[in-house]
Amino acid sequence: MTPSPRRYHITTFGCQMNKADSERMAGVLENLGMEWSEDPNGADLILYNTCTIRDNAEQKVYSYLGRQAKRKQTQPDLTLIVAGCVAQQEGEQLLRRVPELDLVMGPQHANRLGELLEQVFAGQQVVATEAVHIMEDITKPRRDSAVTAWVNAIYGCNERCSYCVVPNVRGVEQSRTPEAIRTEMTELARQGYKEITLLGQNIDAYGRDLPGATESGRHLHTFTDLLYFVHDIEGIERLRFATSHPRYFTERLIKACQELPKVCEHFHIPFQSGDNEILKAMKRGYSIERYRQIIDRIRELMPDAALSADVIVGFPGETESQFENTLKVVADIGFDQLNTAAYSPRPGTPAALWENQLPEEVKVDRLQRLNHLVSIKAGERSRRYLGRIEDVLVEEENPKDPGQVMGRTRGNRLTFFPGQIASLRGRVVPVQITEVRAFSLTGIPQSLG
Ligand code: SAH
Ligand code: SF4
Ligand code: F3S
Repeated sequence: MTPSPRRYHITTFGCQMNKADSERMAGVLENLGMEWSEDPNGADLILYNTCTIRDNAEQKVYSYLGRQAKRKQTQPDLTLIVAGCVAQQEGEQLLRRVPELDLVMGPQHANRLGELLEQVFAGQQVVATEAVHIMEDITKPRRDSAVTAWVNAIYGCNERCSYCVVPNVRGVEQSRTPEAIRTEMTELARQGYKEITLLGQNIDAYGRDLPGATESGRHLHTFTDLLYFVHDIEGIERLRFATSHPRYFTERLIKACQELPKVCEHFHIPFQSGDNEILKAMKRGYSIERYRQIIDRIRELMPDAALSADVIVGFPGETESQFENTLKVVADIGFDQLNTAAYSPRPGTPAALWENQLPEEVKVDRLQRLNHLVSIKAGERSRRYLGRIEDVLVEEENPKDPGQVMGRTRGNRLTFFPGQIASLRGRVVPVQITEVRAFSLTGIPQSLG
């Protein structure tokens, strides 16, 4: 009798880094002969790839986990795994809190899932959270999309923003070599992928840790050099990158984005606060004037560039007028999209210990006021597309309308238009925009030429 293949389920919380890690871990599991189960209750291996950036992200993990831990009491052969940032943050404590767990593994161990599982299947409860050098990926990820793919360029973060857990859970910066990145991208192109997003917590800090020659004082492995090194891969039509830190965003990089045709005119550069004193307390390492200079320069060279950012409201000690400085930046710059969050004190971060924490209702109120402004501004930004013809790279069917497909403009606006996914997936279609909403567009395809 051959045993039926084991079925696995992964739920991913958090950022693109986690999504990319999940795709690689799914690849490892499929290599072991397992099959995907959309329903966690139909799986005999469940992996939660977790996020701890804010308290509510962490609490969500515990509620999901609680349900499956219960199930394990009646189904002892269920394998339960917590990976990602909560795993790294909590380590052994997670086992004490949820004794049903088989494996707790930090983000740096994602590529080692196979060998860790061997120990689990041999009957051990395993915790893998020690800092390691991230091994080059040897398995093939199971990617969610057939058109767009993520490629890690740099892992970890060397900053010490006073509110943030990421350096604690993702470790120090580790850049992959330009050759390894190019090889992965070339393979993706061969498989038919059209768009690649290069990933890093601070992608523009890429290369600082790589050994390498310097030429007249300049390191030869900057992110700008990486873009020049990979931009010509045949078959790849679009390049994106995220997230950029204002501290490392150089004039050279802006020029490269203008010069390289495949690099899309969309920049995600978090500014976190519009107030210099708050920025200092956050330990961000730039002033809001410097941030505005970067944006001005981008708009000088690429007037239509789309801009997005992350912002925190209600940081400890933030006064009403300091918050208004953030509103002012949002009003002046006019972002295409903004990720906003109320400050959440995180264990192991300096700001969590300060005494000038703001009451919850002040944070919630500021968040609502900011979000209101963001959607007005995004709506204004969308309006510039009306009547224009935009190149849309088709990714999927519109889940709400099978007669429509959806994709993104170069500026990263989600766009819907009538068409059949079977013939259009992966194609760049000129679309005349006929309807605009704050965060999406609808249009009519033009002839494919
Ligand atoms: N490395 C990127 C962002 C990584 S974390 C950068 O520096 O810009 C993603 C976002 O989560 C951050 O940009 C920040 O806006 C938000 N964030 C991080 N810690 C937070 C906290 N303690 N409370 C609220 N939001 C937080
Ligand atoms: Fe967190 Fe700051 Fe690093 Fe971004 S740069 S991941 S906000 S510590
Ligand atoms: Fe969350 Fe970890 Fe990303 S804490 S935001 S999943 S780096």
